[in-house]
Amino acid sequence: MFSRRQFLKLSVATVASSAGTGLYAWQIEPHWLEVVTRPLPIRGLPASLSGARLVQLSDLHVGPRVADDYILETFERVAALKPDIIAFTGDFITNHDDLFAHTERVYARVPHGRLATIGILGNHEYGPGWSEPKIAARLTAILQSTGIDILRNSVTEVDGLQIVGFDDLWAHRFRPRRALDMIEFDRPVLALSHNPDTVDLPVWDRFEGWILSGHTHGGQCKPPFLPPPLLPVKNRRYTAGEFELSGNRTMYISRGVGHMIQVRFNVRPEVTVFVLEAAPGPPPLST
Ligand SMILES: [Fe+2]
Repeated sequence: MFSRRQFLKLSVATVASSAGTGLYAWQIEPHWLEVVTRPLPIRGLPASLSGARLVQLSDLHVGPRVADDYILETFERVAALKPDIIAFTGDFITNHDDLFAHTERVYARVPHGRLATIGILGNHEYGPGWSEPKIAARLTAILQSTGIDILRNSVTEVDGLQIVGFDDLWAHRFRPRRALDMIEFDRPVLALSHNPDTVDLPVWDRFEGWILSGHTHGGQCKPPFLPPPLLPVKNRRYTAGEFELSGNRTMYISRGVGHMIQVRFNVRPEVTVFVLEAAPGPPPLST
């Protein structure tokens, strides 16, 4: 049996540890950025891009819920990595009253890749209910003016690497056919798609290789040994990290930089540094 004194001690310790965990999840982990470095093997990669660094930034959610200082520090850390390519995978902002001026102010300080700075839109760029294309159009213009090439179901080419960027699924703007028709499948290619559920749609056809994604924030909170309870995807497998898919496709889901609610536990925010390398074998579908 516990004595009254032992019981009180235990209660105080439990409350202190819960408060400590809460404080950590609220004040520490949401801003404890992890720079994840990993290889990105692409078949047929041009020799000029071997060893190039592509930095993925996702879900910054600039707005009232994410401190500008944290975003600007993240920009400085990314600039110091001297990236060759920067790829934003959507949810640049969270909608709020000062949206356009605030977006201009913060993204005026965005870092740029030596070769390219590319982005795609997420659901949040479409405003309330993900249903206001005028907001997305204005944000696109602002982001383009800061030097980010926004791909909306379109393709760009960086030193011989095709990069296809899809528009957002939840905003009903995902148009894979249009974008995939622009790809030459016998040449190296990489895809950006904000919402991981897009990879399960029967639209990918001849596309092989990597799809970089975001949107989930890794669930933001992950109890040890259990999946995160809050995941905005149909396919509950799609939390964060690498996923082997059918059709010689692989997806990488970033845990993102920002948040909606300022709580993260066991799911630190992430900037991903992909080091490009030539994958063994011929380019996709070259025979
Ligand atoms: Fe999203």
